[in-house]
Amino acid sequence: MKEKIEALKLKFEEELSGARESQLAEQIRVAYLGKKGSITELLKLLQNVPNEEKKELGQHINQLKKYAEESIAERLEAIKKAETERLITSAKKYDVTLPLTELSGSYSPITLVQREVEEIFASMGFAIEDFSEIVNDYECFESLNIPKNHPARDMHDTYYLDNGQLLKTHTSAAQNYIMRKYGPPLRAIFPGRCFRNESIDASHENTFFQLEGIMIDKNISISNLIYFMKAMLSEVFERDVNVRLRPGFFPFVEPGFELDINCLICGGEGCPSCKNSGWLELCPCGMIHPRVLEMGGIDPEEYTGFAFGLGLTRLAMMKYGVKDIRDFNSGSLKVLSQFKHI
Ligand code: DAH
Repeated sequence: MKEKIEALKLKFEEELSGARESQLAEQIRVAYLGKKGSITELLKLLQNVPNEEKKELGQHINQLKKYAEESIAERLEAIKKAETERLITSAKKYDVTLPLTELSGSYSPITLVQREVEEIFASMGFAIEDFSEIVNDYECFESLNIPKNHPARDMHDTYYLDNGQLLKTHTSAAQNYIMRKYGPPLRAIFPGRCFRNESIDASHENTFFQLEGIMIDKNISISNLIYFMKAMLSEVFERDVNVRLRPGFFPFVEPGFELDINCLICGGEGCPSCKNSGWLELCPCGMIHPRVLEMGGIDPEEYTGFAFGLGLTRLAMMKYGVKDIRDFNSGSLKVLSQFKHI
């Protein structure tokens, strides 16, 4: 039996040293220490061993068990560390201090992210729509259940034209037009440039990009919303992302949520980027308010739908590790030419 224990230890060590992902380490734990694991089975065999050998063998097996438990914990720790390192290096694709090497045109990083998200949604059957940057009060507010004097308008101060039209403050302004254009069932995304009267700093600009999406059909629920968001974000960040929903208020959805993803820098442990919470706020969303459906000519008794408003600028900042939002509109070739190679 002693040899059996030694052989098992060697086999365990060999398998564990090959485990580069936490899932594999977990599988090894189950294979050795689980209810039917090899080490657990050895302990069961002890019953049939003559009494005089029992004590020594028992000690050996228990030592092996302890060793296996500790080794797996260490391995998991190392895997997590390696994953975090990988995340940090992959977020460092962009460096504003690099010298300018060649002068030639390149796509804006926002265009790059936009195209990527468009492709993902197109593959899931979403139409891609465009909408004017100049809209009217009905499109931007009234049709979204934000009547005149509603406090939600405070956050949407913008630039007004003499004729009462305005520069759109959010891509939601196209919702009504798209509902009327397609009728139910429908799935569409509509990216666009938005404008607000903001005090400008490293994370606020008066001009930024959003990408809105709506899906309306019979029996659409929050699970559909979570599924599509998760599928899209996992593609964008090229890995499985965890999401969570927190309640959030927007007059045009009920219920409304803030969707967070696990921090990409620390993987959820907590770091300065996520203010130690392990989560990053990414995308407000919710189930479209029945009044909004009605105003879009859709019967809320028959149809339900979800909507989301993804901050494209924010997404580009996260994906490329851009720390200052002002870099995007700076027109600096030193900044923009770097994205050609990404
Ligand atoms: N339009 C909102 C804004 O910019 C964001 C938003 C929230 C869009 C919830 C949505 C949504 O589609 O469901 O403040």
